[in-house]
Amino acid sequence: MPEKRVTFASKIGVVAAAVGSAVGLGNIWRFPSQTADGGGAIFILVYIGCILFFGIPLMVSEFMVGRASRANTAGAFHKLAPGTQWKWIGRLGVLTGFVIMGFYMVVCGWTFVFIFQSVSGHLSGVSDFPANFMDLQSNPVKQIVWMVIFSLLTAFFILSGVKKGIERSAKVMMPILFLLLIILAARAITLQGAVHGLNFLFKPDLSHVKPTVFLDAMGQAFFSLSLGMGCMITYGSYFNNRTPLVKTAVQVSLLDSLVAILAGVVIFPTAFALSANPGTIVDELVAGGPGLLFITLPELFNQMPGSMVWSTIFFFLLALAALTSTISLMEAVTLYIHEEHPISRKKSTLLVTAGVIILGVFSSYSSSFFNFLDLSSAKFMLPIGGFFISLFVGWHLDRKVVYAQLTNDRTLKFGMGFLRTYIFLLRYVVPTAMLAIFIYGLAG
Ligand code: PFF
Repeated sequence: MPEKRVTFASKIGVVAAAVGSAVGLGNIWRFPSQTADGGGAIFILVYIGCILFFGIPLMVSEFMVGRASRANTAGAFHKLAPGTQWKWIGRLGVLTGFVIMGFYMVVCGWTFVFIFQSVSGHLSGVSDFPANFMDLQSNPVKQIVWMVIFSLLTAFFILSGVKKGIERSAKVMMPILFLLLIILAARAITLQGAVHGLNFLFKPDLSHVKPTVFLDAMGQAFFSLSLGMGCMITYGSYFNNRTPLVKTAVQVSLLDSLVAILAGVVIFPTAFALSANPGTIVDELVAGGPGLLFITLPELFNQMPGSMVWSTIFFFLLALAALTSTISLMEAVTLYIHEEHPISRKKSTLLVTAGVIILGVFSSYSSSFFNFLDLSSAKFMLPIGGFFISLFVGWHLDRKVVYAQLTNDRTLKFGMGFLRTYIFLLRYVVPTAMLAIFIYGLAG
């Protein structure tokens, strides 16, 4: 395994960067409303199953494709399967990253608006929270300004390089994020009445099971783990030869799920304890979508003593989570342009930033464009990417390369049963799951 290219410097840096990519708006924005919709504890159980049986094997595969090729997403398929059409899967992944950034960056901008509203005390004076959010949504110029600032901030880290920009920022930001989340969770569970929220989260109630819970949980798991588009291929290309791929994928997936569940521990107890209508709070949370974070939650925080502090912590946490994800998305697209075309890393970053800003401008003006980018990436592009990546490793990639990568050239030991199960999952189970999400997306 040649190791000429830049690699992450430390073990912690590897995990922090990959967790940084995985933990994002998906954990704090989508997971709680999906959990509410999926009936609470049942959804979480199915979600964890999806992470174990589908998410981890695919994450290991993406790391593998990245490290075995030491190339960007498209270059990786080109190198490992020269002269074939597999490179299109890499190209699709790059396009998916671009599409995700086109709407994601706008929500990232909102987090900055809300940090400022919290710090300035504006939010504690608001009486009509839906109107406060509507004001922002009907003001594209304001959204664009903040989206541009967030995109430039992301670009700054990409320009600072893999070690100094991506790795170092993740090593600083991720521990802060965990700490803030724990502080918020501790506050939430000590509210009077919090126990109803905890029950909803952790006590399975079979009467709430929806037939689509499995597909919803799976779609959420893939989005949350940043799979199916090449972020993890790109980061895998920066792993050194001693990084254990399976262990890293397990650690990253567990930490990502922990953050999602902790976000639930912040949101549900707060909602059940403070809502004026606890009877309809679950429906409100389901209907929430983005409104959950930008309407319901600030409204709830406002009823706590010291609301300014709590909402500042919350929106700062959200911005940190979002930033480490946009860094990974931008890195995947930038590296592709830089390595596959005669364009410097700096110019490539600027080009990608400009492209993202253009998409972001359209998303800020048109909510249907925003929704189009969101749905087409999560429901179609990521599952197609995941489908082909698992087939690639399961069927096409030389088995010797697979074993060398899994075992770090035979320095790690895995039983034959483990290896066989891994290949079986990639050949049959993961692709079927991906296909199911895709068809479900078409039907919906
Ligand atoms: N995993 C990120 C989140 O949960 O918000 C979003 C994301 C990042 C999706 C990178 C896909 C990706 F490639």
